[in-house]
Amino acid sequence: MLELKSITKKFANKVVLNSVNLRLQRSQILFVLGRSGVGKSVLLKTIVGLIPQDRGEVWINGEKTDPLNEEKMVTVRQKCGLVFQMPALLDSLTLQENLEFGLEGNQKSGLRKYLDWVQLSEGVLSRYPSEVSFGTQKKVSVVRTLLREPQFILFDEPTTGLDPVSREVTNQMIRNVVKESETGCVVVSHDIQSAIELANSIMLLDEGRVVFEGTPEAFRNSDQGLIRSFCKGMVVLDA
Ligand SMILES: Nc1ncnc2c1ncn2[C@@H]1O[C@H](COP(=O)(O)OP(=O)(O)O)[C@@H](O)[C@H]1O
Ligand SMILES: [Mg+2]
Repeated sequence: MLELKSITKKFANKVVLNSVNLRLQRSQILFVLGRSGVGKSVLLKTIVGLIPQDRGEVWINGEKTDPLNEEKMVTVRQKCGLVFQMPALLDSLTLQENLEFGLEGNQKSGLRKYLDWVQLSEGVLSRYPSEVSFGTQKKVSVVRTLLREPQFILFDEPTTGLDPVSREVTNQMIRNVVKESETGCVVVSHDIQSAIELANSIMLLDEGRVVFEGTPEAFRNSDQGLIRSFCKGMVVLDA
């Protein structure tokens, strides 16, 4: 179980996260929705200790993390893999070399299986990042995370900026990864349609606070003004 208790984070005088609570079991997908700049990326970075919270606690499988203890945070980052919005591969290395970078020998054993999960052919791995599509680079970055055998995966805007086909491929990949690996996933996004298709539960952030938490169905049926305006956005997408 991944649990955030009352996480608060301020930058200068702006409260970005205000007492945010979150609970996620393995094999579950939680979507955290909210407009740009609301603090979604900050939330994910807080979980892995890249940004220390001002107040509140992060618990992973019954153990409290400590962002001030770098050694312990290395273990946390192993348990919670963060997949950044941009794949951030090293240009001068092949995809294979990118995957193997910094790995212990015994961590390479799952490679074939993970390639299968994200539907990537082994042949493509001899190429360089600049020679493959953005979607392929993203898949590689997901495999890079899977190789570390995380129990939770945090996806930062996995579908933002993708065309509809790549978006569907990405969503299918997330579904597959959760099914096969039984990891719990936090997906932060403003892609409400993906949330409704994939999520077991949805959280909506606004002005630092969680303003909705529930099932996709409850989200769709909610008459909260902010949710309605999010859903209108979806209708436009549908059209
Ligand atoms: N390292 C930082 N220092 C100062 N302000 C930051 C930092 N990271 C994020 N912020 C601010 O926190 C707010 C939330 O940012 P972010 O989490 O990136 O939003 P989003 O929901 O779009 O991912 C923004 O106002 C951003 O400017
Ligand atoms: Mg962001």
